[in-house]
Amino acid sequence: ARITLRQLLDHAAERGYGVPAFNINNMEQGLAIMEAAAAVDAPVIIQASRGARSYAGDIMLAKMIDALEEMYPQIPLCLHQDHGNDEATCATAIKYGFTSVMMDGSLKADAKTAADYDYNVDITRRVTDMAHWVGASVEGELGVLGSLEHGGGEQEDGHGLEGKVSRDQLLTDPDQAVDFVRATKVDALAIAMGTSHGAYKFSRQPDGDILAMNVIEEIHRRLPNTHLVMHGSSSVPQALQDVFNQFGGEMPQTWGVPVEEIVRGIRHGVRKVNIDTDCRLAMTAIFRKVGAQSKVEFDPRKFLKPAMDSMRELCRERFEQFGAAGNA
Ligand code: G3H
Ligand code: 13P
Ligand code: ZN
Repeated sequence: ARITLRQLLDHAAERGYGVPAFNINNMEQGLAIMEAAAAVDAPVIIQASRGARSYAGDIMLAKMIDALEEMYPQIPLCLHQDHGNDEATCATAIKYGFTSVMMDGSLKADAKTAADYDYNVDITRRVTDMAHWVGASVEGELGVLGSLEHGGGEQEDGHGLEGKVSRDQLLTDPDQAVDFVRATKVDALAIAMGTSHGAYKFSRQPDGDILAMNVIEEIHRRLPNTHLVMHGSSSVPQALQDVFNQFGGEMPQTWGVPVEEIVRGIRHGVRKVNIDTDCRLAMTAIFRKVGAQSKVEFDPRKFLKPAMDSMRELCRERFEQFGAAGNA
């Protein structure tokens, strides 16, 4: 059944769990997510980026979600717009059945100027007004969150923003967060807490203190009714990197966010945890493996089925690790 982000995260807050938000672009990813959720009885957030909407097409995407909902009627399902960039993106998402939208007013802001902040407040408040009229939830974002804001994706050298901005700039200011939520009335807030998008988050093994727990805790304490969202939360598992590279891939060694760190975040108010890269890697590592092991194979299902299985296992692990399992 379709539910809003507010309904789902209120439940998560009550029970102290986090919900992974997995990105969807195609049927196989949708099936992987729902099979995993059904296996462990977890509620689901499926999110689609603007890129996903243009890749699959809004009609295809919407009907695919309808089908998944019909196949798994027992699973609460929130369909969320990932990184909406303006009112039109958010309004059309709702029209296609999204029950939640992210208005990412930080996309435009690569410096923390007052003008950027005012722009973010204005546009997010307009989206919140509109979405709340029709019963959809809104996620806003405050803070510089890594490389997506700097030209759409990872840096060319394969690494994120390390060294380019100070650690301080990468953290959301709690006072500003309080002001932002009061002014915009968002249901959930993505904060900058030390992560970035993509596979290349850290060039060394993280030392276990990579998230700004004090910032998370402080914002949560002052905004107990606003659910915190962690973007860039892929863990980039070594085992998947190894399969990818063992079968002809040339992915440079990289480190993501350790699952234990995410779990610590969940203990301090993080409720929505965005994961795309891990799902991509879970599938494409298997494409490489099948392609390398069977050079005559040309049936796409022979690639897609094991890739789907691999993504399903990853999703199932995250539902369990974040405590969402058993909460459908
Ligand atoms: O944060 C962005 C998500 O990973 C979606 O990426 O815009 O390539 O679909 P995309
Ligand atoms: P990852 O690139 O770490 O999977 O983050 C995805 C994300 O934040 C989508 O909004
Ligand atoms: Zn994101």
